[in-house]
Amino acid sequence: MKLGFIGCGNMGTAMIGGILKKGTLKKEDIIVSHLTEAGAERSRKLLGVAVTLDNREVVKSASVIVLAVKPQFYEEVIGQVKEFFTPEHLIIGIAPGKTMSWLEEQCGQPLRIARFMPNTPAKVGEGMTGMCVNERMSDEDIRIVKELADSFGRTEIVPERLMDAVVAVSGSSPAFVFMFIEAMADAAVAQGMPRKQAYSFAAQAVLGSARLVLETGLHPGELKDMVCSPAGTTIEGVRVLEKAGMRSAVFEALTSCAEKGKRM
Ligand SMILES: NC(=O)c1ccc[n+]([C@@H]2O[C@H](COP(=O)([O-])OP(=O)(O)OC[C@H]3O[C@@H](n4cnc5c(N)ncnc54)[C@H](OP(=O)(O)O)[C@@H]3O)[C@@H](O)[C@H]2O)c1
Repeated sequence: MKLGFIGCGNMGTAMIGGILKKGTLKKEDIIVSHLTEAGAERSRKLLGVAVTLDNREVVKSASVIVLAVKPQFYEEVIGQVKEFFTPEHLIIGIAPGKTMSWLEEQCGQPLRIARFMPNTPAKVGEGMTGMCVNERMSDEDIRIVKELADSFGRTEIVPERLMDAVVAVSGSSPAFVFMFIEAMADAAVAQGMPRKQAYSFAAQAVLGSARLVLETGLHPGELKDMVCSPAGTTIEGVRVLEKAGMRSAVFEALTSCAEKGKRM
């Protein structure tokens, strides 16, 4: 199987990095396109895959095509390549709001289409990808595309109506987690900890907490209660976060993300 990426920025690089690291495909099996020579040079250096500035070249030489440009450029790049799509092609969209029926309509013919909503932790093999497929995808097609997504983290197949929720809860949320880590580290720096060390402490605390949720299956509230000794330090922090409306802020932020995704 030959895999092609139209556009290869943050997300494309993270996905291909995972695919190569896991050995799902070899460098020779992957081709990516760029808008600029600078981008092309970056992919040559970072990934070592075949690179072109001609999007049509990607479609002509690969059978699985990932549309990895920003959502506002989807229409333009599909317009450039659609005459080269054949029934052998399998198309994967990764943009919020670009539904499978919209993609098929833009491509102008019945095609096997999947949508991934990955996230940047894919870069270190810890991605979370929501995936949905259209009715033309066979079980074998689904196996092939899921194997790709599994190369850079966990994958769950969801109905398309949940893709906007996925955009919020795992596509965008790493940005909020990074803000949280940065804020925690700032506080540690204010207490005198060197900055680099503060990032390690904060990030490992987030990583370990996430693993506790995933590996114990315990309710996050129960895990929180286990940290809060009576009259201790943690419950003081909980009081401050509740007063500042932390839960509500997170709830509203993710709702805004999902709503924005629906409008794209
Ligand atoms: N970033 C995330 O966390 C995330 C998460 C989930 C989904 N996504 C989705 O992933 C997609 C890509 O996002 P990104 O963050 O990777 O964007 P990005 O870093 O800006 O990368 C966009 C890539 O598209 C290329 N490009 C732009 N116009 C092109 C054209 N006409 N022909 C060919 N290539 C073109 C750029 O080429 P140059 O390198 O030459 O400039 C660049 O490599 C978006 O649809 C986004 O919604 C992103």
